[in-house]
Amino acid sequence: IPVQPFDLVIFGGTGDLARRKILPALFRRFCAGQMDAQARVIGAARAEMDDAGYRAFARDAIIEFDVDAASDAAHLEPFLEQLSYVALDAAGETGWDALQDRLAGSERIRAFYFSVGPSLFGDLAMRLHTYGLSNPDCRIVVEKPFGRDLDSARALNKVLAEHFTEAQIYRIDHYLGKETVQNLMAIRFANTLFEPLWNSQYVDHIQITVAESGGVGTRGGYYDKSGAMRDMMQNHIMQLLCLTAMEPPAKYDPDSVRDEKLKVIRALEPVEPRDVVRGQYEATDRLAGYRNEVGSRDTTTESFVALKARIGNWRWAGTPFYLRTGKRLRARASEIAVVFKDAPHSIFGSDAGRHRNILTIRLQPNEGIEMGVTIKEPGPGGMRLVDVPLDMTFSEALGPQAADIPDAYERLIMDVIRGDQTLFMRGDEVEAAWAWTDPIIEAWEAPGSEPVLYATGSSGPDDALALIHRDGRRWREIK
Ligand code: BG6
Repeated sequence: IPVQPFDLVIFGGTGDLARRKILPALFRRFCAGQMDAQARVIGAARAEMDDAGYRAFARDAIIEFDVDAASDAAHLEPFLEQLSYVALDAAGETGWDALQDRLAGSERIRAFYFSVGPSLFGDLAMRLHTYGLSNPDCRIVVEKPFGRDLDSARALNKVLAEHFTEAQIYRIDHYLGKETVQNLMAIRFANTLFEPLWNSQYVDHIQITVAESGGVGTRGGYYDKSGAMRDMMQNHIMQLLCLTAMEPPAKYDPDSVRDEKLKVIRALEPVEPRDVVRGQYEATDRLAGYRNEVGSRDTTTESFVALKARIGNWRWAGTPFYLRTGKRLRARASEIAVVFKDAPHSIFGSDAGRHRNILTIRLQPNEGIEMGVTIKEPGPGGMRLVDVPLDMTFSEALGPQAADIPDAYERLIMDVIRGDQTLFMRGDEVEAAWAWTDPIIEAWEAPGSEPVLYATGSSGPDDALALIHRDGRRWREIK
């Protein structure tokens, strides 16, 4: 469905995110016919550049980062026509008059994408107001990291709230734009099959894994100041946890969904020090370690976290959530696995072994859902049991259009234009998430506290295995 005509100003328009994600996402939506021919995208950044220069920049980005750009070549030039550029200083007065001129008289929906560091959020919000560029219907989009602890997140919320209402602020967590993550809500709340079993009476435990095979690459400068806890756990994994654990919202609307997510975060119990493992990848014969990659011999920043979370509410008391994420692991594999309890009694006797149903929601790669069920092994050998997967890989079940899963940014940017905040984080949610992760991070910042090492290309540190083995359980294989 096409969205209404809009003016989208990208502050940080020449930055890495604009290049890798925002511009290619807009191009895909243009090719899909969702971006109106009247829509305008205005890049804004400090570099001196004219419209033609920005179009060339966008062309290169799209060709580099959009795998299908070649097949959509016919759309490329018309798309670029809708782009323009204003050289502007977010923290000074230069260029704002030009932006004013560019937007003057426009009746289109207006959105400002703050694709800049959080230290500039306050400057941008204030100048948008001073130069009369904001109006009650305009939106701002802010990227993570939204602060680095509770205090800084509160300060950011406060500074934005001076000029914008909560309904105008779109805090992006791109995991919420992933197709399978949204599917999690469909699976839970559009089927009668799962929800009656979705509680501690039937679920033994839940594992959420976001494993990456890549390292920090060129982002070492940012990453070394953040670490896996701030970069992944506090936002992406917490969001997955919320969608998995929340009560059914009364409606699929922004506040109903976000109220339920917030209740989950607030019900999280503090994490015991023995229930968290902080790891850093070390070099192998062939591959560089974290310290080599970021160019610091003594950094203690973590590239891996595993922890056991407990939700103190009626539904989940007694069912732990094991969460882990890390870089330079064996494979890029992300999933949520709901491990059900054993059948209460085995009529087949102890020889039949232990069998459990596991529902796996695969976020990437091979987006899909798999339900492990136990059946009789075919053959005359008696009642031998075997676990087999009922596998629904979306691209196989739904045909070729499902193979072409849109990037999360495509969905999220269009939601901004539509004015739908359901897949964006509310200020109180972000603060509650920091309130839960802050004590863990503070303990790590104590002098002498060091991460444990794990080999590049492994499944993570041995301590992470011990964390779950202690409870008589095991991690699912990263493959
Ligand atoms: C980003 C993190 O938010 O998410 C990166 O800053 C991480 O460190 C990335 O690599 C993972 O996203 P995806 O979509 O590739 O799983």
